[in-house]
Parts: sequence; C-alpha cells; structure tokens
Amino acid sequence: MTDLRRPLVAGNWKMNGLRADGLARTRALVDKAGKRPPAIDILICPPATLLTTIGRALGGRRGAIALGAQDCAPRTSGAHTGDIAAPMLADAGCRYVILGHSERRGDHRETSALVRAKATAALDSGLTPIVCVGETAAQRRAGKTLAVVRNQLARSLPEAAVARPFVVAYEPVWAIGSGHTPTPAEVGKVHGALRAWLEGRLGERAAAVRLLYGGSVNGANAQALMAVANVDGGLIGGASLKVDEFWSICVATAGNRKTTRRPARKQGGKVKR
Ligand code: PGA
Repeated sequence: MTDLRRPLVAGNWKMNGLRADGLARTRALVDKAGKRPPAIDILICPPATLLTTIGRALGGRRGAIALGAQDCAPRTSGAHTGDIAAPMLADAGCRYVILGHSERRGDHRETSALVRAKATAALDSGLTPIVCVGETAAQRRAGKTLAVVRNQLARSLPEAAVARPFVVAYEPVWAIGSGHTPTPAEVGKVHGALRAWLEGRLGERAAAVRLLYGGSVNGANAQALMAVANVDGGLIGGASLKVDEFWSICVATAGNRKTTRRPARKQGGKVKR
C-alpha cells in the first residue's frame, strides 16, 4: 500500500511575531519534533522579516520542519517596490508559499487570475504553492459553497500545476479566526467535491494532491476535522502561535493518518471512478 498523501500541518503566523517570540516558539517546536517526530509533514510560515531567522532555527532545508512564506510576487524580479519574488523565497530556504489566502483576496483585492500568476512564479522557482479557496458567510447561506470553491480553484490553478506538486487549502472565510467551523460532514462534502474536480482536471495525479482544511482548527476539534475523508492536514492560524496547541494538532493529525492507495487503472491508463 502506498501512502500518496503524507499529511501536512502548516502554521500560518500571519502578521505576528518578532525575532524573540518567533525564535522561542520555533525552538520549542523543534525540540518537540526532535523528541517525538510525528509521521506527518510540518510547516511554519512566519512573516517575511523572520524567514531567514526561523529558517536557520529550523535547521535549514534538511530540518524536519519546513519553512514557507505567506505570499509571493507574480514576477520574478524588477521594479516592484515592496514585493518579494518567489526565487528570493526559495533562496531564503522556503519550500512552500501560501497563495490566495482570503485575507489577501480581501485586504489586497487579489483576484484568482493574480493568484494563478503567483502560483506559476512559485512553481517555476521550485516552491510548492498552497492555494487557498473558501466561501464567505453570505455565499454559504445562498447555497453557493461548492460553486464558489470550484470556480476559485479553476481560476487560481496554473497550467504548470498539471505536472508539479501543489497543495489546496479549503478555508471558509467565515470560519477563519471566528471560533466557528463547518461540521465534519460539511468539510467532507467540500473536500470530496474538490477532489472530484481535481480528478477531472489532473486524472490520476489528483490522488496525490493534499487538501488541507483551515479555519478555527484547535487542539479540541483537530481530531474530528482531520479524520474526515480527503482532509490531508490543516492550515492553522491562531493556534499555530501557541506551541502546545499547535503540537496537539500535529499529534491528532498523525494519529488520524490515512493511507491512500494509488488509484486502480483501467485498461488504457484511465482512472477508475
Ligand atoms: P485560524 O486561521 O486558524 O486563526 O482560523 C486560519 C488561516 O487563516 O489560515
């Protein structure tokens, strides 16, 4: 049996952290991971100012915990004051970059077309994009959740993603930082729809794409959310700033680890549905 999708728990520190507290949090996590390495991938995405410092504390590219950024520019260099290009992030030791988070879509009016350009730049630089999608409360009330997330994914995923690794995070906008989450059944419905959409686009490669759930995940609800079919880990905001809570989410995710078989092939190489 092949484990196609090793779970990933990603901490999104957002605009939080100065050197001292960021380093203390990182060292405590590295210590926990060293003593009891869980059978999952762990990622930390600090603010850009801390990437090099935290990357070093994580032990560089060989460290057990990976480093990621929270955004990148759509272009690789040039006269773009304030922007940070994907090759710079790779050079700073990042392996992943979060793209299209609803806070960027909201605060900076990022469109899915821009997210797609950023994801292309990330893939070209060897980074794994974590492409975020999610509906607002009003879209949810109107029964548009599946249509919204499929549409965002279709418009945000670049052509290059057909052949390269990427991650998708489903983050309902209304669940982020609110203390409210969808039920496990609701999460399962969305993740199932996203997997089906990916199968239509990528064929059997869709089985290797990790689908994260994000939005008010904490130590108490992680076990139930991470046990849902097609949930391959979490994107964690507020709880990633508390070492013990973040660690308990990692442990709960590892405890729920699902083993995913490679999809059976029909004759002619088509995937069985
Ligand atoms: P939250 O944020 O865990 O604080 O809800 C998740 C995110 O925005 O990635």
